[in-house]
Amino acid sequence: MAGSPPSRNRTKPFTPTRQWWKSATVYQIYPISFFDSNGDGVGDLNGITAKLDYLKALGVDVIWLSPIYKSPLADMGYDISDYVSIDERYGTLEDWERLLEETHARGMKLIMDLVVNHTSDEHEWFVESKSNKDTKANPKRDWYIWRPPRYDEQGNRPAWEYDEGTDEYYLHLFVTKQPDLNWENPEVREAVWKLMRFWLDKGCDGFRMDVINHISKVEGLPDAPIIIPTLPYQPGNDFYINGPKVHDYIKEMNEKVLSRYKNIMTVGEAPITHIPATLAEYVLPQNKELDMVFQFELIDIDAQGGMEAESPILWKPWRLQDMKDIVTKWQSYSREDGFWNSIFIENHDNSRSVSRFGDDSSKWRALSAKLLCISQITQSGTLYVYQGQEIGMKNAPKSWSLEEYKDVATINFWNQTLEKRKKTTGKSEEEIDMSDIMEGCQRKARDHGRLPIQWDSSPHAGFTTGTPWMRVNEDDWNVDSQINDPDSVYSFWQRALDVRKQNDSLIYGDFKPVLLDHPTIFAYTRTLEGGTSALVVMNFSTQSVSINEEVKRMKGAKLLLSNYPVKATGDQAWEVPTVLRGYEGRVYLRGECCGADACGCKGIQKSFRDSRIDTLIVFAFRLKFARKTVP
Ligand code: NOJ
Repeated sequence: MAGSPPSRNRTKPFTPTRQWWKSATVYQIYPISFFDSNGDGVGDLNGITAKLDYLKALGVDVIWLSPIYKSPLADMGYDISDYVSIDERYGTLEDWERLLEETHARGMKLIMDLVVNHTSDEHEWFVESKSNKDTKANPKRDWYIWRPPRYDEQGNRPAWEYDEGTDEYYLHLFVTKQPDLNWENPEVREAVWKLMRFWLDKGCDGFRMDVINHISKVEGLPDAPIIIPTLPYQPGNDFYINGPKVHDYIKEMNEKVLSRYKNIMTVGEAPITHIPATLAEYVLPQNKELDMVFQFELIDIDAQGGMEAESPILWKPWRLQDMKDIVTKWQSYSREDGFWNSIFIENHDNSRSVSRFGDDSSKWRALSAKLLCISQITQSGTLYVYQGQEIGMKNAPKSWSLEEYKDVATINFWNQTLEKRKKTTGKSEEEIDMSDIMEGCQRKARDHGRLPIQWDSSPHAGFTTGTPWMRVNEDDWNVDSQINDPDSVYSFWQRALDVRKQNDSLIYGDFKPVLLDHPTIFAYTRTLEGGTSALVVMNFSTQSVSINEEVKRMKGAKLLLSNYPVKATGDQAWEVPTVLRGYEGRVYLRGECCGADACGCKGIQKSFRDSRIDTLIVFAFRLKFARKTVP
C-alpha cells in the first residue's frame, strides 16, 4: 500500500486509552439548510434548537455547527466578517446561548467551526489592512499577506488579488473575498486566541478547525512550478500545506488556549495530505496539538487528478480495492502511539454518500445507505454524521440545470472551464461542449450536500414555509416518513449508533482486514484486548456473493446488526448466511477466548496460520455469552 506506515507486529490486540470524545457521535449541522424557524427561507439557530430532541433520539452526542458568524456568505459563512457576532440570518447571540443551554440540558455538546486561515474581505481587520500600505501608520497592514505588483514577460498578473487603493496584491488561497491571515504576525495569533476564548468562555465544547494545515506559508512565498500547462494558475500545495511553522502555531494555540479548558474536543481539517505520519504530528498526544484531524484520502478516491486535481468535481470511477486499502491504512496507523482517526464519508463539501459510494436507485437506496452506515459505525475513530445522511438523502436530480447549483466553487469552476475552452477552441459559448463538467457537477458538486433537509411531505419538504434559499430535492424521502418506520434508514442509523455505543470493540478494537483481495466484499475484524471481537462483512455490489468459508467460522457468534431482515429460527437464533445478498452487510460479535490450552481456537489458528484469511480464526473461539434476540 502506497504511503503505508510501519505497523508493529503485535501478537495481542491493543486498546487505546478511552476518552469521551473518542466514543462520541458528532453530528454536523450546515445551518442554512437545516431547519428554518421563521419562514425566511434560510435555516437558523432557533430551527436547530427546535430539532434537538430529534438529534438526541438519533443518538447524537456532539453537534458541530458550521459557521453562523456574521458573513457576506461569499463562501457560505466560511468567509467571516465578525468572529464574535451571529449573522442576523441565523439569529442572535441570545439564540445561540439558548441553543447551547438546551443542547447541554439534553446531555449533548456543541462545537463551533473555527475559520482562521482567512477572514472575509469585509472583516474590519482586512478593511483596515487595506486602507494604507504604510505599516507604521497602519498596524493592521501586516495582518494579511501583501506584495507589490509583478508581471511576467507576457504581462500576466499573479494569482493573488490586486488592490487598486494601495497598488499591491493580497494572498487568498480560497475565493478573492477570503484573504489569508498572516500567522507570522504574533498580533494575529493573539487575536485568534482571544476569539477562541470568547466562545469557550461562553461554554462551547471545542472546535472543528477549517483548513488548519494551511495556516503557515513557506518563507518567501515562491512561485509554484508549472505542472498543468493548460491552467492559468498552478497548484501551490507544497507552499502552504503543513507549512514550516504550522506545528509551532498549533502548539502555541494549545498552550495558550486549548489546554486551559477541560473536556473540550478539537478536530482539524487537514486536506491534501495522504501521509499518516505527516498528519500524526497534529494528533499524537505527546505533541499537545489537536485531538484528531479529518484526512481526505477516502474523499479524494474519485477525484480525477488526485490531490493535484483541477477541481474535485472532475470524477473518476472509484474501486472498492482502493477504499479497502485506504481504510486499512488509516485504521491500522500508530494506534499504540495514540493516533486517533475521524470517521466520515459526508460533509458540506461533498455529494451524498448513497449516490457516490452506494446506489441511489429505488431498489438499492435504503440497503446501500444502511450498508454505508455499517461501514461508518464499525471503524475506529470519532464518528461524524452529516445532516441528512441519517435518512439516506441523495444527490439532486440530474434533470436540474446549472441554475440550481449555488456553490461558488461549482460556479467558478464552470465559468473558468468555459473561458478556457472558449480561448482554446475559438468557439462561442453556445458551441462549447460542457457535458463532462455537467456530469461532474451532477456527481460531485458540493451543492448536493447543501440541499435543505427533507423533514416531511409538506411544501419544500417542511424545511421552510417561505421560499427556500436553495431548491429542495423532489423525492418523498423525509424524516417524518422514516422516524416511526422500523425498516427505515433513520431507524437503522439509530439502532446502529446504539450498537456502536454498546460495543467498545467497534470504537476501540484493533482493525484487521479480512479477504483483502475479494473484489466485492469489504470485511474486517475489530478486536479488543482480552478478546472481544467484532466481524464486519459487507457486500459492495448488487450481486449476491457466496461467503461459505467465512460463515463456517462465524457460527455461534452473535449478530449485532444486519441491513436485511433476519428471522430468529428456533435453536439457531438467526439464519447464518451462506450468501451475502446485494449490498448486504452484517456485524457479528464474539466474546472472550477462554484461554484454555484445549480451546479449539488454538488448533484452528495453527492450521490457518499461513492462510490469507487467518484473521477469521477469531470466530472459532469459544463463546462466553448467551445468544439473545437479534436486533
Ligand atoms: C473548507 C470548508 O469546509 C469549505 O466549505 C470552505 O470553502 C473552505 N474550507 C474555505 O474556508
